[in-house]
Amino acid sequence: MLSTVRCRLSSWRLLSSISSTTSSTIKYSTLPELTKDRYPNVRRSDYSIIKSNHLEFFKDLLGEHRLITDENECLAYNTDWIKANRGYSSCVLKPKSTEEVCSILKFCYDNNLAVCPQGGNTGLVGGSVPVFDEVILSMSLMNKIISLDETAGILTCEAGCVLENLDNYLAERELMMPLDLGAKGSCQIGGNVATNAGGLRLLRYGNLQGNVLGLEAVTPNGRVVDCLSALKKDNTGLHLKHLYIGTEGSLGVVTKVCIKCPPKPKAVNLAFLGLNSFENILKVFKKSRHELGEILSSCEAIDADSLAVTTEHLKLKSPLDKFPFYMLIETHGSDNTHDEEKLNRFLGKVMEDGSVLDGIATNEPSKMKDIWDLRERITEGYLHDGYVFKYDLSLPLEHFYSLVPIMKDRVGRDAIRISGYGHIGDGNVHLSICVKEFSTEVLNKIEPFIYEYTSKLKGSISAEHGIGFRKTNYVHYSKSQEAIDIMTNIKCIMDPKGILNPYKVYPPSRRWSNFK
Ligand code: FAD
Ligand code: MLT
Ligand code: ZN
Repeated sequence: MLSTVRCRLSSWRLLSSISSTTSSTIKYSTLPELTKDRYPNVRRSDYSIIKSNHLEFFKDLLGEHRLITDENECLAYNTDWIKANRGYSSCVLKPKSTEEVCSILKFCYDNNLAVCPQGGNTGLVGGSVPVFDEVILSMSLMNKIISLDETAGILTCEAGCVLENLDNYLAERELMMPLDLGAKGSCQIGGNVATNAGGLRLLRYGNLQGNVLGLEAVTPNGRVVDCLSALKKDNTGLHLKHLYIGTEGSLGVVTKVCIKCPPKPKAVNLAFLGLNSFENILKVFKKSRHELGEILSSCEAIDADSLAVTTEHLKLKSPLDKFPFYMLIETHGSDNTHDEEKLNRFLGKVMEDGSVLDGIATNEPSKMKDIWDLRERITEGYLHDGYVFKYDLSLPLEHFYSLVPIMKDRVGRDAIRISGYGHIGDGNVHLSICVKEFSTEVLNKIEPFIYEYTSKLKGSISAEHGIGFRKTNYVHYSKSQEAIDIMTNIKCIMDPKGILNPYKVYPPSRRWSNFK
C-alpha cells in the first residue's frame, strides 16, 4: 500500500524560520497590549527598579554585547510567541556559563531584582516573558554540547541548546531526542525541561520526567545544584531534579541537562487518514494500539477547522480531500518490511470496517515532513486569525472532543473559529477559540467554565504547556488545597524572596503569603 501513495506535495519553509527571538519578526501593529494593562488586577510587587548601578554590574560581568537595554531590541524578549503577553523589561542578560548565571542571580537576589528566565520564548502560557519589568535572563548563548555517550545514548548539554540542533547532532550518530514538537526550531532543551514539554511522540518515548537523567540548576541566590547525574539508576535520597522539571523556572534556572536519547529508528512510516466522526478516531486509536503495538510512535487527531488554518492561512496542501476529522499515525521501528506489513494490515482493517474513509501512507522523508507540517503548523496558522484563546487539556478519551460543540454553543458568533486537535494518544486536546482580537467578554464566556468542566471530568487544566502567567487562578481545578500548600511552601523555601519568575505558576492568593 505504501508504494501507491499519492505524491502531490511540495516542501515549504520550516517553522524555525519564524523564530521568536529576532525582533524583525514582530510587527509593532500586531503587538499585544501590555500584560499590566490587560490584567490590571495583578499588581507589581515591591521589587527594586533597575538602576544604572545595576546595569554597571551586568556590563562589567557580561560586556556590553551581552547586556541588552535598547527598547526595540528588548521588545522581542518582552513579547511571547502567541502575542498574548507583553512585559516592559529594559534589561536582557545573556550569560555564557553557569558561573555567570550564579553571579547574576546572586546579584539580583541581594538587590531584590525580579528575574524571568527565558529559553526559546515559545511557551504558550505567558511564562517566558516578564509581567512587569523583571530582568530577562536569556539562556540562548549557553548552547554547547558537553558530551555524548553513544553506547548508552546519553547526551549532556547546556540548557540553551535548541531542540532541533540537538536532534540533528544526534541524527548523525544514529540517535534522536526523546521529544519532538512543532517549536523545535526555536525552543531550548532548558525550556523543554522547565515546562516538562510533551509533544508529538510522548506516547512512545515518555515524558521528560523519565528521560532527564540529571541536571544542573542555579538557585535564586546563586548557588549551583549539581544533580547532573548520567546514571540510569541512582536511588540515593530525594530525586531533586524533579524540583526543576516542569516548575517553569520558578525554583531555579536550569543550566545543564543530561538526557536519555533513544536510537534513531531505521524505519519510519506515516499514515494520514480522513474520518467522518470522532467516534471513529477512538476506534482507530484503539485498533492502532493493538495492531501496531511496539512500533506505534505517534497518534494525533485534527478536526477540519484546525486543518483549515494551515491550508487557508499558510497555503499548505493537504493530500486528502475534505473530511470532518483527520489522524496522523506514525510508526518507528527497526525493520521496514516488518513495519510496512503491520501498517498495511492495520490500514486495511480500518478501511474495511469503515472507520477510515480515505488515507495515504508514506515512508519518503520529504512527504512525511509535508504531512507533519499540516499538524505541527496549526499553532502558527491560528496566529493569522487574530487572537487565540488556547486551552491544553487532559480529558478522558471519550470526552476529548466534547468541548468543541459546547464552546460553539457558548461563544457562538463571537468566535471566528473553534476547533480541537492534539495528542489523542495521550488524551491531550488543544482547544482553540479564535477571535479577531482579545476580548474580556469572550474570555468570561470561556473561563472559568472550561476549567470547571475539566475538573468535573477529573482532567487536567494544563496537560503539557504549564501554568505560566495565564492559568495561575485556576490551579485549584486540578490540584487539592493541600497540594497547593505544599507547592507554595516549596517555593517559599527555595526562593524566600520570590525573585524567580514572580506572578507565575502559583495561585495569586497563596503566592506571597509567606514572603512579605
Ligand atoms: P520558554 O518559552 O522560553 O520558557 C518556558 C518556561 O520555562 C518559562 O516559564 C521560562 O521562564 C522557563 N524557562 C525557560 N528556560 C529555562 C531554564 N533554562 N531554566 C529555568 N526555567 C526556564 N509544548 C508541548 O509541551 N508540546 C508541544 O507539542 C508543543 N508544541 C508547540 C508548538 C508550537 C508551534 C509552539 C509555539 C509551542 C509549542 N509548545 C509545545 C510550547 C513550548 O514550545 C514548550 O513549552 C517548550 O518546552 C518551551 O521551550 P522554550 O525554550 O521556548 O521555553
Ligand atoms: C501542539 O501540540 O501543536 C502544541 O502543543 C501547540 C498547540 O497547542 O497549539
Ligand atoms: Zn501539544
